[in-house]
Amino acid sequence: MTAATGGATGGAMDGVLRATGIEVRYGMVVAVRPADLVLGPGQLVAVTGPSGAGKSSLLAALAGLTPPSAGTLSVAGQPITGRDQAVAAGIVVIPQGNALLRILTAIENVAVPLVAARLPDARDRAEAALLALGLDEAADQLLEELSGGQQQRVAVARGLAERGSYLLADEPTSELDAGNRSRVMALLRGEARRGAGVLVATHDPEAAAMCDAELRLDEGRSTWVREDRPNPAATEHGG
Ligand SMILES: Nc1ncnc2c1ncn2[C@@H]1O[C@H](COP(=O)(O)OP(=O)(O)OP(=O)(O)O)[C@@H](O)[C@H]1O
Ligand SMILES: [Mg+2]
Repeated sequence: MTAATGGATGGAMDGVLRATGIEVRYGMVVAVRPADLVLGPGQLVAVTGPSGAGKSSLLAALAGLTPPSAGTLSVAGQPITGRDQAVAAGIVVIPQGNALLRILTAIENVAVPLVAARLPDARDRAEAALLALGLDEAADQLLEELSGGQQQRVAVARGLAERGSYLLADEPTSELDAGNRSRVMALLRGEARRGAGVLVATHDPEAAAMCDAELRLDEGRSTWVREDRPNPAATEHGG
């Protein structure tokens, strides 16, 4: 296991991402009703539910992007109250809609966050991530020259290249054919094997079935429909 953040003890990799009673409102709209979630190292968990159920809202709150209207969020017992803390805790997001820059090439899109983080091996990491997504030949093409599915794979490559402690992927396979969907799910599983906690929001029952557990949202209400691998780390910090 590679610890992306922290030392031998006490780093984010040693702890869990814990949301307690987390609620997201937009004015009068309650997008996520109070939900509890524990995401531990090595876990691959699906968040499912129909369009508008609150999946993206939950992920945005867990990433420190949207302030929850109630509840608490912590990593390894340290409170997360905004994006800066979430970044420091190694929480990486693959956003729905990809959020790529059309005026940059594929490899530049992948490398930008790595360069911003002053990583010396940004280009090597970006190349490796694009290769893993089958996009090595598209590396120097402008984003706007790529198909929707290729662009989605660039967004996945960008998330993987960051090697976070937690990876929150929002509909990362929505534009993909079956082969590429399997490839992306295998790479997300690889991130979990590396020691990351991985959460994937998906409409796709086949993608959800490849995960260890499934949290289903419906009109903001969350229910664990499958929790087949108890998380040993979940009790370590006692809440
Ligand atoms: N910025 C916002 N302002 C106001 N309401 C919002 C905002 N973002 C989302 N909502 C509302 O919150 C609810 C949940 O939206 P959310 O995007 O979290 O759903 P989702 O499960 O991700 O849907 P999809 O599968 O279509 O991506 C919806 O009713 C939506 O209209
Ligand atoms: Mg969404």
